[in-house]
Amino acid sequence: MSRRRALVTGGTGAIGAEIARQLRDDGMAVTVIGHPSEQPGLAELRSRLEAVEIAFCDLADGEAASQLVCALEQQDGGYAVLVNAAGITRDARFARMSPSQWREVIGTNLDAAFYVTQPLFTGMCARGYGRIVNIASVNGQKGQFGQANYSAAKAGLHGFSMALAQEGAGQGVTVNTVSPGYVETPMTAAIRPELLAKIRAQIPLGRLALPAEIARVVVFLCAEQAGYITGANIPVNGGLFMSA
Ligand code: CAA
Repeated sequence: MSRRRALVTGGTGAIGAEIARQLRDDGMAVTVIGHPSEQPGLAELRSRLEAVEIAFCDLADGEAASQLVCALEQQDGGYAVLVNAAGITRDARFARMSPSQWREVIGTNLDAAFYVTQPLFTGMCARGYGRIVNIASVNGQKGQFGQANYSAAKAGLHGFSMALAQEGAGQGVTVNTVSPGYVETPMTAAIRPELLAKIRAQIPLGRLALPAEIARVVVFLCAEQAGYITGANIPVNGGLFMSA
């Protein structure tokens, strides 16, 4: 029997790459999609993502995204698993947030999930099996100073999960959200040190998460045995939401 296939968007980033590796180690044939700006680093990516198929696309560009994903879906019987992990930040106080900072974040963090998910969801429903996990954020649950764009996109992503969960329920397709807290990634490394220290002080567990701790939950939800969980939003945030 051929291995089940999984597609991970943002699979070249810190959290996405760890999800891809853990799905691969769980026996899946994994494809990741990274941003075209990462293409020059392909050799390094190949060594980090051994035995994983790597594609590039600006997923905020609907036409390019649909074209790539439809072509991938037509190979080897389609995908059984989709993880939407592509995400960017363009933090700014709302009064100073430009329309392009708003659009870029909504485009990559929310619109892309529409473009990528539609062709795969249709195939999964037709085959009667699928696992979709959308990576949101604690900041989509509690809001965050300086992240009106990001918080809106991540909250929207869970609304998307809940609606799709209802549409997929009769057809063997589960759709869930994982909402990480602050994770050790280049995204959090870019926060000014004094602000990051304040954030860390609010986390009951007293530290940032490791990407592997997020990936573990995603792989759990992608298992065949997780078939009774759908429309859920699983927090993996060191207790941060609890203290909000
Ligand atoms: N709550 C209330 N007030 C705050 C605040 C907060 N959390 N943070 C800053 N302020 C206040 C400051 O005290 C300051 O007040 P005064 O002008 O009265 O002194 C004012 O807002 C300006 O603050 P900054 O100097 O920080 O303003 P800035 O324009 O230089 O920077 C910012 C704004 C870029 C948004 C910066 O505050 C910032 O980087 N904040 C962190 C945002 C954040 O947490 N991003 C998460 C990235 S990681 C991620 O997104 C992954 C994930 O899913 C968790």
